[in-house]
Order: sequence, then C-alpha cells, then structure tokens
Amino acid sequence: MTAGDAGPHPGRPSDLVGGQVAGYRIEAEVGRGGMAVVYRAKDLRLDRTVALKLLAPELARNDTFRRRFTYESRVAAAIDHPHIVPVFEAGEADGVLYIAMRYVAGRDLRHLLDREGPPTVTAAVRIAVQVASALDAAHDHGLVHRDVKPGNILVAAGTDSDHPEHVYLTDFGLTKKSLSLTGFTTVGQFVGTLDYVAPEQISGRPVDGRCDVYSLACVVYETLTGRPPFLRDDDMALLWAHQYDVPPAIGGERGGPGGAVDAVLAKALAKRPDDRYGSCLAFVGALRAAVTGGSGPPAPPPGPPGWARPVFPGAVG
Ligand SMILES: Nc1ncnc2c1ncn2[C@@H]1O[C@H](COP(=O)(O)OP(=O)(O)OP(=O)(O)O)[C@@H](O)[C@H]1O
Ligand SMILES: [Mg+2]
Repeated sequence: MTAGDAGPHPGRPSDLVGGQVAGYRIEAEVGRGGMAVVYRAKDLRLDRTVALKLLAPELARNDTFRRRFTYESRVAAAIDHPHIVPVFEAGEADGVLYIAMRYVAGRDLRHLLDREGPPTVTAAVRIAVQVASALDAAHDHGLVHRDVKPGNILVAAGTDSDHPEHVYLTDFGLTKKSLSLTGFTTVGQFVGTLDYVAPEQISGRPVDGRCDVYSLACVVYETLTGRPPFLRDDDMALLWAHQYDVPPAIGGERGGPGGAVDAVLAKALAKRPDDRYGSCLAFVGALRAAVTGGSGPPAPPPGPPGWARPVFPGAVG
C-alpha cells in the first residue's frame, strides 16, 4: 500500500493503519492537525518505533512550502538538542511529504491544558525553560520555528523528581501561517490557531528568532493563566489584538507575584521585535526571577537527563 491518493485528509478514517509508506509500517494514528496526520509506525529497516508525520497532499503541490520543507527539515535534522524532537528522515513518497522522527510517549501541551487546566507556576516555568533552550539552539542554527504553540510542545515523563517532565519542541518551519497570511493558500483553508502568532508574521514583515519569543510568551501566558493573552470572537479581531492591543495583566492570579511577572510578559509580548527580549532564555530567565521574587542573571537551561550525559565528561570537547 502506498500513501498515494489515500492521503491524510483530515476527517478521513485512519485507512493507512496496517499499510506501508516509504519503508515504515503504520501501526496507529496518534494525532492530527490541520495539515498532517501523525502515526506511530515501525521503521522496517531498523525495526524501531517512530512517529511518522504525513503532510496533506496539497502542501506537496505548493512549491513555496515544499522548498521550505526540504530546507528546514534538513536544518532541523542537524540540530542535536535534548529538547528538540530528533528528525530521522524527511522525504516524499507518491506525492506525500513525510517526516520520520522520534516517537515521544506523552501528551502535547494543548491536550494537557485542555484536560487538566494550567499546571503549577513552578511547572509552567520548568516547561518554559526547556522550550526556550530548544528555541535558542535553533536560532543559533539560523532556524526560526514560526509556529510555537502548545500543540507543538510534547511533554513526556522526566527522569526524577527534580525533572518531573521532559519537554520536546517539534514541527520546525511546518506552518502554513506565513503562506496563508501572505495569500499563498486558497481562501477558507485551515490556517491553524492564531492565538500565538507574532505581529510581524501577521503584517508579512521579515521574521527572526524574536517572533518565537513572542509566541513562547503567548504559550507561557496560557500555562500561567489557562487562557492565551487575547481572546476574541473572530480571527480578524484576534489579529488586530496581536497588532495593537495591550495584553491583560495577570496581576496576582493563581497566587503569583503579579506585577513583576506582568512586566516580563509585557516585554516579551512587545509589538516591536526590538522591544522584546533578545533571546528566549533571557525571557524565561527574567520570568523565573519574577516568579521567585528574586533577581539576577538568567538561569541556565536544565542539563540533559542522566541517560543523555556523557559517561566520561572530561573526554568530550
Ligand atoms: N514525535 C511525536 N511523537 C508522538 N506524538 C506526536 C509526535 N509529533 C506529533 N505528535 C502528536 O500528533 C499530534 C498532531 O500533530 P500535528 O503537528 O499534525 O498537529 P498540531 O501541531 O496539533 O496542529 P497543526 O496542524 O496546526 O500543526 C500532536 O499534537 C501530538 O499529540
Ligand atoms: Mg504540530
């Protein structure tokens, strides 16, 4: 069986389960978004479990998307970071673009927020630090994520009580937003959520890592309060709010220290990239200081879990 025209149209039954795509046997559907379906699959060459993402066939026909997909999956695959989902392979089979990556046993943050509500403030900061370290590493490689949102943050079990969860960022460059917002896609196509989109993405200005600072700040805002910074009845009003409105203050919500946190969020959510923090870790460092009431330099990201540390640290570069 091939992916062929049995492509991953949202709403279709999982008719690929049991079939084979580009050397992977599809075992179960694990989730779907507006432009792809993610399956648990077996890499038949190595006999290992992977997450196989099949992109909607219409994306393969969009040359702009396709070029960026090829380039960015290559760059993403080159980044070796404990908080970025490793990409094993990306390619095309029978007109369907696919990505094989590590299968993360866990839930995405969207699911967790919907089911369990916002986590504790301490957990929210722990999650933010891990995502921030992943984003800064990507920015160091010249890669801007462009679609930081809870659905792209996977939360797996951590290693011990000091690291209760291990967070992975996924889906670099796999957003239709920049295409759709600049008129590349057909009217009415699914664009995905606009809750986390930066003002410069909306107006079609060039983006850099600071657009991820903005989106991360929207995610942090939501993990602290249970809602994104702007709630509007329709997409136009939401886009307007990102461009021009002041995000509502969190104040002392959920027992938090309020004022200091609001100042940090206001800076990270500044409309002009120049007015934001220069990096994601600078933002979450300031956030951590505000939450604990202290000040001082941004804390370094947590180290990799025990199993990922070199056995002989002295022997490594
Ligand atoms: N590497 C992975 N391991 C395990 N589950 C994954 C993996 N990657 C994605 N998933 C699951 O598949 C779901 C669907 O992912 P997908 O990227 O298609 O949609 P999304 O990010 O929620 O929305 P959008 O289409 O707007 O990007 C994710 O939310 C996640 O739960
Ligand atoms: Mg995704």
